[in-house]
Amino acid sequence: MSVGIGFEIRCKDVVGRIGKLTVNGKTVETPLLMPVYNPNKPLIQIKELEKRFGVGALMTNAYVILKNEQIREQALEEGIHKYLGFGGLVATDSGSFQLMTYGSVSTTNKDIIKFQEDIGSDIGSFLDIPTLPDVYKPRATEELDLTLKRSMEAVDAGFVVNAGIQGSTHLDLREKAAKEIGKNFGLCAIGGIVKLMEDYRFADLVDVIATVKKNIPTNRPVHAFGLGHPMIFPLAAALGCDLFDSAAYALYAKDMRYMTEDGTKRLENLDYLPCSCPICSKYGRELKELSREEKIKNLAAHNLYVTFRELNRVKQAIKEGSLWELVCMRSRVHPALFSALGRLKEHKEWISGLDPVTKKSPFYYTGVESMHRSEVVNALKRISQVSSENTVLMQPFGTVPAEILDIYPFGSFISPESSPIDRAGYKVNDIEKIRAIMEYQFGRGAGELIEDNFRIRKSKKTRRIRWIYKKNELIASVRASDHLIIPKEYLAKKLKKMFKYPSLRVVVDDDAVPFVSEGKSVFAKFVVDIDSSLRANDEVIVVSKEDDFLRVGTLVLSPDEALDFDRGIAVRVR
Ligand code: GUN
Ligand code: ZN
Repeated sequence: MSVGIGFEIRCKDVVGRIGKLTVNGKTVETPLLMPVYNPNKPLIQIKELEKRFGVGALMTNAYVILKNEQIREQALEEGIHKYLGFGGLVATDSGSFQLMTYGSVSTTNKDIIKFQEDIGSDIGSFLDIPTLPDVYKPRATEELDLTLKRSMEAVDAGFVVNAGIQGSTHLDLREKAAKEIGKNFGLCAIGGIVKLMEDYRFADLVDVIATVKKNIPTNRPVHAFGLGHPMIFPLAAALGCDLFDSAAYALYAKDMRYMTEDGTKRLENLDYLPCSCPICSKYGRELKELSREEKIKNLAAHNLYVTFRELNRVKQAIKEGSLWELVCMRSRVHPALFSALGRLKEHKEWISGLDPVTKKSPFYYTGVESMHRSEVVNALKRISQVSSENTVLMQPFGTVPAEILDIYPFGSFISPESSPIDRAGYKVNDIEKIRAIMEYQFGRGAGELIEDNFRIRKSKKTRRIRWIYKKNELIASVRASDHLIIPKEYLAKKLKKMFKYPSLRVVVDDDAVPFVSEGKSVFAKFVVDIDSSLRANDEVIVVSKEDDFLRVGTLVLSPDEALDFDRGIAVRVR
């Protein structure tokens, strides 16, 4: 792998993540949008990008700079940061976009790589070939082979390589490209997708993104090349895209197109402006009366405001655990997005392996597509571990044991059904309830660990179960937010004895044993093995390589992530 890159997950929802990305000692938060700055004819100045939009990373085009003698000489002499007057992260593209648009470029892969090194790009790219959708497969294969060959000339580049994964709409080619690029590069970019975005082929885009993501290690930040339309952010972020660049805000403005989260409008057709960004607030419908040049500038600024606004909305949704709701809501704005939502069904096994198993936000039923959400996939697997004679019909989950109605997702499930389930109507004994939750969370048989004479204490305020005692020893608590069980050492050791290695376990390297034993969190780099049926936010048992009990904690990554990442926390130990 080339120059240093650090990436860690701070927060997860669906396959999306809020991450901390460090490149060249500069740290940014993902999902990140890099506006594209065109040094020939910028519509928004760098200072404005920084001040008005808080831009900490931008993208510019090394090929454009190379071809303009005056800019080239200045950039070579001063370096790209000084030339731009920008201290943040500077990513450069290689001319691949020009290659796609004009069919050829007058530089070579080696030369453009060298040039990006010479001007001091933080993130650069090789001259990948952006093969368009539906290209005849032999040609797509040939172009991919050339892209992969060119990638090898960039492995030792003096910048972090934004390594383009191509393959058109041929998913087997995407798979091959992802495997190879994912192995050799720390930052992976999905290329050749702008046309899919422009043509609203969002379902095909889902297949391309999912195929790439499934075939690269989970610790690679993923850039969606040119995917700058806000209407696709919730879906793309939910599939695990971490970086976006937008030339679209400026290109659409030049074409008098006004972006919204719901799609694109032509400015001339707008009698009202459905936005209250500083531009729209200032001008209102008078925006249409400005000179052409002023219109373009202001449209570009509006487009960028909407773009950042939607990205912030996505980030807040990840934080809250409501990204599914946002994706479902946005899917209603256009049939093509609705079709993309339907396509997620084909990838639900993969998605449900990465999606946290319990969340802070309630599960809102938004329509038939809720059937295929990962909360349902994961719940159905776990319901099958519970034996109960007392079941309730609760769509989209089917029959749910009455004992577990209080836990996530059933307890926080909100649907438009006229008669909400009368939970109080299902009288279940508290011990039976805890036994069933144990089976649901930890596996068939786990309920036997709860003995008839265990004592249960409830919250005075809510009257819900909060603590479980064996004689006077607290052996578990029940989390108020999702009613799931948090085992203490006694119960965890019993679970460990009942379920054989590696079930319920996160296994850490010897170096981490003293720290974890003291109660310090488990860093992902120390995880050497893990039960692959666990999910993020599960309660887990941390053990040594000899399977000695160390601690109980909450897994905050998915099993694959815990193994792939070498930065950040994997288990928050209690
Ligand atoms: N910009 C938009 N799409 C692409 C792509 O596929 N590759 C590169 N390098 N830049 C792009
Ligand atoms: Zn606006």
